[in-house]
Amino acid sequence: MVQYDVWTELEAEIKNCKRCPLHRNRKNAVPGEGPRDAKIMFIGEAPGATEDEMGRPFVGAAGKLLTLAIESIGLKREDVYITNVVKCRPPENREPLPEEIEACSIYLEKQIKLLQPAIIITLGNVAGKWVFEKSHNKWNGVMKMRGRVYELNLMGYEVKVIPTIHPAAALYNPRLRSILFTDFTLIKNVLEGATQIYSTSKARSLLDYIKNRRS
Ligand code: URA
Ligand code: SF4
Repeated sequence: MVQYDVWTELEAEIKNCKRCPLHRNRKNAVPGEGPRDAKIMFIGEAPGATEDEMGRPFVGAAGKLLTLAIESIGLKREDVYITNVVKCRPPENREPLPEEIEACSIYLEKQIKLLQPAIIITLGNVAGKWVFEKSHNKWNGVMKMRGRVYELNLMGYEVKVIPTIHPAAALYNPRLRSILFTDFTLIKNVLEGATQIYSTSKARSLLDYIKNRRS
């Protein structure tokens, strides 16, 4: 018997998608990965070379730094959902064009609706702009917007959004690297303070809740 699974179906749809010209040069589309009940969602820009090769998000150099940052606040990569605004690699890693973002948006919209994460962390300018515009808010660029918590109504539900810089930008720049880790400290503080929705479980905070669900 074939079991209907919305996530598997969505991933298959993305892997076969030809809605924009980026499908022509891809080796693999990169739908995203993580628990289907994850409370935290990370959104990047678009796959790079390693991601295109492997069909997985953030597995190259920037991905290693993202993984380190996630571990620096006591979480594991496997605790969070990770995806990108655009699911296929743009040539020479250029920024995705507005029409490519537009064509691909249906997938990120579906992923957000399915997951309904409590917290969304946007990585870099493209992801931040996407989330803010989708929630009808003004986006003033990543350096002005980063490092704060915004309560947004995103497609009809309330979510905390924390914009930070893209880990690729922080790779070879110590000042940006320190900004990235500072913003992750904020993420940790928000997770520790987020208690109300989990008051029925034994966990004292959302951070506890996420750690406990592993065991
Ligand atoms: N950069 C991104 O924005 N996403 C990835 O998956 C890898 C690098
Ligand atoms: Fe489809 Fe998105 Fe890939 Fe374009 S980038 S082909 S819209 S999955």
